[in-house]
Amino acid sequence: MIKRRAAVVRAATLLAIFATPHQAARAEQAGAATSSPLTKFEKAPQGEAEQIAQIIDLTTQLLQMRYPEGMARRGVHPKDHGCVKATFTVNPDIPENYKVGVFATPGRKYSAWIRFSNATPFLAPDLGKGGPDSRGMAIKLIGVEGDALLNEPGAETQDFLLINLPAFAFPNVSEYLQVTKIQLAKHDDISSFFAPPLSPEKLKTAAVVKKIKQTNLGNPLESPYFSAAPFLYGADKVAKFSVTPRSAEKTPVPENPSTNYLREAMKKSLDPAIGKPAIFDFKVQLRNDDSLPVEDATAEWPETTAPPQNVATIEIDPQNFDNPLQVTECEHMAFTPWHGLTAHQPIGGINRLRRGVYIASSKFRSQPKEPTGFPKWPW
Ligand code: HEM
Repeated sequence: MIKRRAAVVRAATLLAIFATPHQAARAEQAGAATSSPLTKFEKAPQGEAEQIAQIIDLTTQLLQMRYPEGMARRGVHPKDHGCVKATFTVNPDIPENYKVGVFATPGRKYSAWIRFSNATPFLAPDLGKGGPDSRGMAIKLIGVEGDALLNEPGAETQDFLLINLPAFAFPNVSEYLQVTKIQLAKHDDISSFFAPPLSPEKLKTAAVVKKIKQTNLGNPLESPYFSAAPFLYGADKVAKFSVTPRSAEKTPVPENPSTNYLREAMKKSLDPAIGKPAIFDFKVQLRNDDSLPVEDATAEWPETTAPPQNVATIEIDPQNFDNPLQVTECEHMAFTPWHGLTAHQPIGGINRLRRGVYIASSKFRSQPKEPTGFPKWPW
C-alpha cells in the first residue's frame, strides 16, 4: 500500500514537471532524475524545469533518430581518442582552505579512468571540413567515500568533465532547448540557430564557437581542459576546475590529418616501449568575488580575479589502452558531473540541465535494441 502511494505521488510529480504525459512516461522509462536542490548561489529562471524536461525527452528522440540500426552511442562526445588508467594524487602541500571533498586529505591517491573525446555528436574524422571540434577530458576517481549526489547504491566515484576551452558554448537552458529542437528538426544541422539577427545570448555562443574553431590540437595529452561551469566547493564556496599539462610539448597538427590522428598521437605518447608519463596539474579557481557569474556558462572567470590553485596531480603512465577489452569497458561507462560528492554539487542552469540529460543518454545507449539494419560504420 505504501509502495503504491509512493508510485502515485511519483507519477504526479513527473506530470507536474513534464509538458505532456507522454514525455513524463518516456523520462520515467529513462530513469531521468530531473530536479536538483537549488543552492544559495543559484537562481533558476521561471519555467526552467519544464525546459529541462523537454530537453531530456528530445535527447532520447535524437538518439533514436541517430541510431536506428541498433547500438546507440553517447548523445555528445561519442568518439573517444583513448580511455586510459591514471593516478590522481591530492598534493601533499594543498593549502588548508582547499582541503574539501575529494581533496580533503593531502597525499591521498585515487585510481582513475580518463576518457579523451571529441564533442561532435557523430563518429566523424578528428579534423573535419568545418574545422576543429570541442575536445573533452572526462575523469572518474574510484573509491571515493562520502555523501553522494545521486542515489545509486554502491556508487563511490567522483567525475570531473572538462572541455578544452574555459567557456561552454551555451549560456543557459533556454538557449540549449532552442538548439536541441533544431537538431531534431533538421537532422543535426544547427546552422539555422545562427540565422541573423543574433540576440545577445546567441552572440555569446557565436563567440565561443569561433574560439573552438580556432583551437586545434596535435595531441589530446598536450591541452589544458576546463569545467567551464561552476561547482560547490564545500557548503560555502563555489569553484571551477581545470587541468594543465606539465609538459610544454606541442605536437604539430599533421598537414593531412588521418581520420583518427588524435588517437594515433596518444598511442605514440603512451607507447609502453618508447613513451613517457603524461602529467597534469589539477587546479581549483575559487569564486572569491560575487560578480563572477554562476548562471552563464559562457562567462569565463578571469584568472587575475580568481587565480587557479594547484590541488592535485594526475599521472598517466605509458600503457596499451587501445585494446578491445579496455575500449569496450569505457564505452559502457557513464561519466556525469552528477556522479560525485555533495561537497562538489554541480551548480548553475547548464549543470542543473545535465543532471537528467546524462542519465537519459547513458540509459538509452545501454539498453539492448532490435536492429533495423546494419550500422553505417565506420562513417
Ligand atoms: C560546462 C558544460 C559541459 C561540459 C564541460 C561537458 C563535457 C562533457 C564531456 C567531457 C563529456 C564526455 C564524457 C565521457 O567521456 O563519457 C560529455 C558527455 C555528454 N554531455 Fe556534456 N558537457 C557540458 C554540457 C552539456 C550539456 C548542457 C548537455 C546537454 C544538456 C550535455 C550533454 C552530454 C551528454 C548527453 C553526454 C553523453 C552522456 C552519456 O551518454 O554518458 N553536456 N560532456
